[in-house]
This record gives sequence, structure tokens and C-alpha cells, in this order.
Amino acid sequence: MKLCMIGTGYVGLVSGVCFADLGNDVICVDKDNDKITKLKEGIIPIYEPGLEELVKKNYKLKRLSFTSNISDAVKKSNIIFICVGTPTKKNSNAADLSQIFKVAKEISKNIKSFKIIINKSTVPVTTGDEVEKIISKKINKKLFSVVSNPEFLREGEAIRDFIYPDRVVIGTSNKKTNKVLKSLYSPLISKGAKYINTSRRGAELIKYASNAFLATKISFINELANLCEKTDVNVEDISIGMGLDKRIGGRFLRAGPAYGGSCFPKDTRAIVDTGSKFKTDLSIIKAVIKSNKDRSKLLLNRVSKILKNKIRNKKICFLGVTFKANTDDMRESSSIKMIPYLSKKGAKITYFDPTGYKKEFKNFKNVYNAKTIKEACNDSDLIIIHTEWNDFKSLNFEKLNKKKNFFIYDMRNILQNGKIKKNNKRYFGIGK
Ligand code: UGA
Repeated sequence: MKLCMIGTGYVGLVSGVCFADLGNDVICVDKDNDKITKLKEGIIPIYEPGLEELVKKNYKLKRLSFTSNISDAVKKSNIIFICVGTPTKKNSNAADLSQIFKVAKEISKNIKSFKIIINKSTVPVTTGDEVEKIISKKINKKLFSVVSNPEFLREGEAIRDFIYPDRVVIGTSNKKTNKVLKSLYSPLISKGAKYINTSRRGAELIKYASNAFLATKISFINELANLCEKTDVNVEDISIGMGLDKRIGGRFLRAGPAYGGSCFPKDTRAIVDTGSKFKTDLSIIKAVIKSNKDRSKLLLNRVSKILKNKIRNKKICFLGVTFKANTDDMRESSSIKMIPYLSKKGAKITYFDPTGYKKEFKNFKNVYNAKTIKEACNDSDLIIIHTEWNDFKSLNFEKLNKKKNFFIYDMRNILQNGKIKKNNKRYFGIGK
């Protein structure tokens, strides 16, 4: 099939490349000329394991092309995916849909034959209706069909998540369109993905409901971890014990720092905003947002306690600063709150992240980017494992840090299996 992806961010680029790998002709469009030039040279704008190889392979096979000419791409395609960003609006909780509407207008100028227009961006319920309205100002409704097809891939696992999704959700009441899309996704369905056809509004809401529910699961276990710390219980036992109940499920029950990234914080805010537009109080999601906001403060209090309330001049090492492992993404990472706070309190911070230097800390005093794990750890009073990179799981900290009597605060509970001696009074985890 002939597809075009408008927007080469995470969702657009990964889905476009994967669709090409399944044998479709895919044009990836972006208004950023520089990005397009680089993509043609095989330079990938995002850090995603396995993506570069797949881009190069499919570009060489001419199943994948890149352009900044949206009109041309729309004219040449039967299925058009809108994959632009929907960030939080300034001074509001609402999603900024200006890019979606701009693209819809552009598409409407270039429809000469029947097109399926798919919204893959995360958008509030009823956005598809707006897109349809914009296009129908210029084009007869018989010539296009607007569908919602949300994406559920995770950064760092994006390719595997695309190829082996739990489900494919298609929001359309148009039978013909549904048939075409079922056939587009048939290689994934034959590998076990469930295919769900629902209303367009239903599909839009499934995406927000899923992200908000996952965020709720994380906040739930994070608060339980707080109770575990007070009652001498290991939160990991709670996660396993709860998760074995199939009605609950064990995934997304890892306690840690506040959840971050470009999706959960933004999407929980946006669904609460949608709720208030439709006069519905989503009180549970509001509580989750608050709990997550308070979490960094809570963990910082524990840092202070570990250091016996003496933060000034203490050397604190951060291992990992991204919001999770296998990504270079810093958006809404809890380290963005923690490092500046500790720096203002007079600590000397050294951080190491496998994805290198982070501009987010450039204006803070005494914050230094170490080039190696050893350089970061050495001489530290406290080592904080902030992100669960594999690189940190089997370290011998006694060898890496010449200083005696240093503390470890393992915010991801990754140090186990004999690496930390039982009853070590200088080791602190989460929820234990
Ligand atoms: C999330 C969803 O998992 C995807 O399904 C969705 O497609 C995506 O948002 C999106 O809307 O685009 P992502 O933000 O890439 O994916 O990352 P996650 O793996 O979900 O992690 C989000 C945050 O939750 C991270 O800070 C992570 O460390 C934290 N987390 C996750 C926990 O603290 N505990 C867990 O058990 C799981």
C-alpha cells in the first residue's frame, strides 16, 4: 500500500519505517528540511535501538523515502497518517492541537482521489470530528474518511512494540476503510495482535485511558512503596504478590522515582482537561498527577535523611538521568527536579548517562557530566541510581569509589543477586 506519515517524530518515524519493512511504500514527511536531509543520509534524529539499521535498509530498498513536500506526499498516497506532536498548551493542561489542524488543512488542499486519513497522534476525544470538519470545508465527504488509530509503542522498545503489539485499535464506522486497515495490519494480526474496530471517539479515548491507567498503576505502587518503607516490607514482594492475580497483572508495578517522559505527564493532564470540558470530574487521575508531582520531593527528603541533613559540599553521583533506560529523552525526567534542588543546597553533583551530556543542567552550579561510570562514582558520598540502564546492574561500587563509607540510593531497585550484602546499612532502595 502507499502510505505517508506526516511528522517524523517518535511515532511517525518508527511506524513509517516499520510499515516499510512490512513491504509498503512509505513517504515520511516533515516540515523541518534539515531533519529530512539528515534522514536521507541515514542520520536518525532520535535515540531508538535498532531504528537506524531499519531506516537504512528500507531507504536502500526504496520502500522508504523522505520529503518536506507535503502536497506531493499526500497526492501519491492512499493512506495518510497524521503523526505530529500534541504538547501541553502554555499555561493550561489542554493538549495543543494546532499542528493537527494545520496538517488537516494542508491535506484538504491535495485530495484528488479517495484518501484514508488516520490520526495516530494522541488527541482528545472528538478531535477526529474537528479534523473531518476542516477537510469537508474543501472536499466532499465521499472522497475521504477520517480514522483514529492510536499508537501504543514505548520509547526504547518502539520497534518491538510496533511489530508485536498487544492490540491494534481502529476507530471508524466506515466498513470499507476498516477492511483496508485490517489488511494493512494483517502481518501483525497474524503474529497474534488483537484487532479492535470501534468508533472514532472510542479509539481516541482508549489511548488516553490506557496511559492514564498505566500512570495510576505506577503511582499506586509508588505510594505502597512509601508504606513498605515504614513497615519493613519489601515492595517487590507486593508487586509480585499482586501481579500474579491475572485481574491485576504484574507489569507497570515497578516502584521508582516519579514517572516521566513525553506521554504520561502530558496525557494525564490532557484527559483531566477533557473531563472538565465535558463536566466530568476525573478525580482519580487528578490524584495520580498530584501523587507523581509530590514524589520527587519525597525522594529528595530521603536523600537528605540518608546524608543526615548535611547536603552542603557532599559529592552526589547520579547514574542515569533520562526518564527511563534505552532512551536519551529527558522530558519530565525526575532528575530535572532533583539535580537542581541538590545543587542549590550546595551539593557537588556528578552525573553519568550512557547517552551523554545533558543541556538541562548546564546552568546549575557544581553539576558535572562525567565521561565514565568510574569517574562519576569516585569520591562520592552518595551514589544515586536514577535510571535502570543495564550498565549499572552489576557494578562493584567498592572498586569504583575510593571513598569509604559511602551510601547508595537505588531508586530503581536494580542492585540485587549478592551485589549488595544483606543488611548493608549503607544501601537504600525504594520500598524496602
Ligand atoms: C508510554 C506507554 O507505555 C506507551 O504504551 C505509549 O504508547 C507511550 O507512553 C505514548 O503515549 O506515546 P513511554 O512514555 O515511552 O511509553 O514509557 P514507559 O515505558 O511507559 O515509562 C513511562 C514512565 O513510567 C517512565 O518514567 C518509567 O520509568 C516509569 N515506570 C514504568 C515506572 O516507574 N514503573 C513501571 O513499572 C513502569
